[in-house]
Amino acid sequence: MRPVSYYTLIAAAIGGTAAVALESRQGGNATIQCAPIPSPYPTWQQLPQQSTLPDPFLPLKYTTVDNAKDVMAGKGQGRVASREEWYKCRQPEIVQMLQEYQFGYYPDHNQEKVEATRSGNTLSISVTVGGKTGSFKATISLPSGASASKPAPVVINIGGMQNQPYLSAGIAIAQFDYTTVSPDSNGKTGAFWSVYNGRDIGVLTAWAWGFHRTLDAINMTVPEIDATRVGVTGCSRLGKAALAAGLFDTRITLTMPMSSGVQGAGPYRYYTMSGQGENLENSKSGAGWWTNSKLGTFVSHAENLPFDAHTIAAAIAPRALVIDQGTGDQFTNSKATAVIIYPAAKVVYDWLGVGDKIAMSVRGGGHCDMSGFTSILPYVQKIFFGTATTKDYNSLGSYGSPVSTAFPWATAVPKA
Ligand SMILES: *[C@@H]1O[C@H](CO)[C@@H](O)[C@H](O)[C@H]1NC(C)=O
Ligand SMILES: *[C@@H]1O[C@H](CO)[C@@H](O)[C@H](O)[C@H]1NC(C)=O
Repeated sequence: MRPVSYYTLIAAAIGGTAAVALESRQGGNATIQCAPIPSPYPTWQQLPQQSTLPDPFLPLKYTTVDNAKDVMAGKGQGRVASREEWYKCRQPEIVQMLQEYQFGYYPDHNQEKVEATRSGNTLSISVTVGGKTGSFKATISLPSGASASKPAPVVINIGGMQNQPYLSAGIAIAQFDYTTVSPDSNGKTGAFWSVYNGRDIGVLTAWAWGFHRTLDAINMTVPEIDATRVGVTGCSRLGKAALAAGLFDTRITLTMPMSSGVQGAGPYRYYTMSGQGENLENSKSGAGWWTNSKLGTFVSHAENLPFDAHTIAAAIAPRALVIDQGTGDQFTNSKATAVIIYPAAKVVYDWLGVGDKIAMSVRGGGHCDMSGFTSILPYVQKIFFGTATTKDYNSLGSYGSPVSTAFPWATAVPKA
């Protein structure tokens, strides 16, 4: 018997679509007892200070201050012991915990009425909740040959992108002006805030919601696009948003954060490795609206956060994730993203048996260099079409090898 109440809980936390996908993946294992999620959530003082990346296998309940050394070393009690337990318990716990501590709570999609119309290549999208409506537009570019009987996969992109190589490869592009969903500021205008003003939600989550409602509209009005093969991308702050978009909706097949940095695929810890040192403190003071107010309570205590960027990445498994960073990027700590976050997240992907679903693309060039898109394209084609590639997406390029001392728990992964 499936524990129905459990799925109801997850549906409330991350939306109905996600719950259905989780359910079918586990085949309903009622024998596993999940560690309870602490309520209320612990404050920074109640969490251990961890100078290395937190153990993704350890539930929050057991991430306690009295055993900080064991926690960091992967010797905490009560670690996740099976893939079933990961998907049933830990993955949803992470998604909920990240909303509590960083993103703010993603709105309940089941309460939303989404309407879309299409005129040529422009989609008009309206979302109504409790009498409030927010509207925005998206545009699509279709590759030649795309039709209802031969629909193309799509990449939804909210920044600049080199479209032509993708169109030539048979991939559609959808775009929307992110400022019409939410401005990059504390200003609560745009479609998202028309509906959700007053909620303590970060703008990265608002932009993620824009990706998802665009996908809803594509699914409703564009038969030339296959809404089951979907990539999400953006660069820099918009890369952070793309990562959030991949996290919060299991319909996203491939998450493509470009030069994303902290609150994207870059770490809070190890922030001095390369680039200007983007960290919790300066991101909160410079653009505090990206995240919720709870994250602000960790300022000056980032090492007490019970997660880091690898935790976000790991929670996307088994769906695909490709991380772009340029070695000439002066802003976003490309090096630590490549030598620490990527390999730490890959430990979890490997453990889940989906190691080929996470990829690192270290390229030359600077922040948001357009070459990032051609660098990841062979991987995108592999995910969408199964096209073989000889390019090694486990290579860290000139950065060399993983810095495994940053994730000591990896030497003690649970038996899968
Ligand atoms: C349920 O979980 C237990 C413990 O991990 C495992 O031994 C068993 O094989 C699982 N059953 C199914 C049907 O997945
Ligand atoms: C598309 O819409 C149909 C009908 O509402 C729904 O069953 C399906 O899950 C949707 N697919 C995606 C990818 O949203």
